[in-house]
Amino acid sequence: MPAELITGISELTTNDDERRRLTDAALIIEDGRILWLGSAVAAPAVDTSTDLDGRAILPGWVDSHTHLIFAGSRAAEFEARMAGQQYAAAGIGQTVTATRAATTVDLVANARALRAEAQAQGTTFLETKTGYGLDVATESRSAQAAAEVADVVSYLGAHVVPQGMDRRNYLDLVTGPMLTAVAPYAQYIDAFCEQGAFDVEESREVLLAGRNAGLGLRLHGNQLGFGGGVQLSVELGCASVDHCNHLTDADVDALASSDTVATLLPACDLSTREPLAPARRLLDAGASIALATNCNPGTSYTTSMPYVVATAVLQMHLSIEEAVWAATRGAAKSLGRDKGPDAVGSLTIGGRADFQALNAPTVAHLAYRPGVPLTAAVWRGGVRS
Ligand code: NIG
Repeated sequence: MPAELITGISELTTNDDERRRLTDAALIIEDGRILWLGSAVAAPAVDTSTDLDGRAILPGWVDSHTHLIFAGSRAAEFEARMAGQQYAAAGIGQTVTATRAATTVDLVANARALRAEAQAQGTTFLETKTGYGLDVATESRSAQAAAEVADVVSYLGAHVVPQGMDRRNYLDLVTGPMLTAVAPYAQYIDAFCEQGAFDVEESREVLLAGRNAGLGLRLHGNQLGFGGGVQLSVELGCASVDHCNHLTDADVDALASSDTVATLLPACDLSTREPLAPARRLLDAGASIALATNCNPGTSYTTSMPYVVATAVLQMHLSIEEAVWAATRGAAKSLGRDKGPDAVGSLTIGGRADFQALNAPTVAHLAYRPGVPLTAAVWRGGVRS
């Protein structure tokens, strides 16, 4: 691909280590990488150029928590919840039935459509999970489908114990033949550590089995109530503990003195009418946070990172800069991809050309104009869509 100069950038959020936000900037991309970036007046000349006419550029969103491999709808459950019914993990069983009945082709097509929807809103890097198969054949098909669609795959056989199955037998399956079948397609193992799903000791067993199989660790924890998920994540050195709605001071302190990222999922919190995760408290204590959509048919049926970022600013009391960082570089950290030649979530010379332009002069407009589709263009690996 020939080098292309992009000018007319009113504000360029780099998310580099200095957290630079440049005004009147330009950047040059070549072969999927950033060849140069800086002040527009200092830009070297190249063959082709594009004028963005005063738009903001920022790294593409990194959606570090999704469940895109599923079939069926849970709209009726959502409607009942909005009428006052409480969310319970038991609803997962309905999606499991539909997913088992779906062909792999249909699972991939549905996930691809959701990924395209996400990319149209600025998402350039995405994690997704298995977890709606819960038998060896469907978890294995789900992992293969996930590897076709997503950049990072997490194995969530430990989502819930499927109906009709003995608990101990299921744990043996998850940590045995199912793990063996899924591990070649996955980079992480995950577990739902919550009342109605798996307790702390069961979650520990699952994560340690995954570690033995060479997988990184992440955990769903402290979503529906206080519990030991956060403490377990810190103890085992998980890359991320996700949800974190109900945290004691000891949980916050443990996260603040660890490398475990707290991944917060405000779209899910609103859709389940759970209290929003304490983002401000975590940041003030010194913890690292990420923001993600948790796109899934049960608790958070959205692919919109702009919605997540606007909610984090307007309702979770993050600054614009903190929310954008958490939805890009913070999320990249939770996936072990914030540093090195294949880092995502930041714009640096030599790094991947994954970025988005807004139909707005500054990133502040993401929350200043909430609900307005502001994505003007998206570049992934230097290719504009
Ligand atoms: O992250 N918390 C567990 N799993 C998903 C939702 C599962 C469902 O209800 O389908 C989540 O919210």
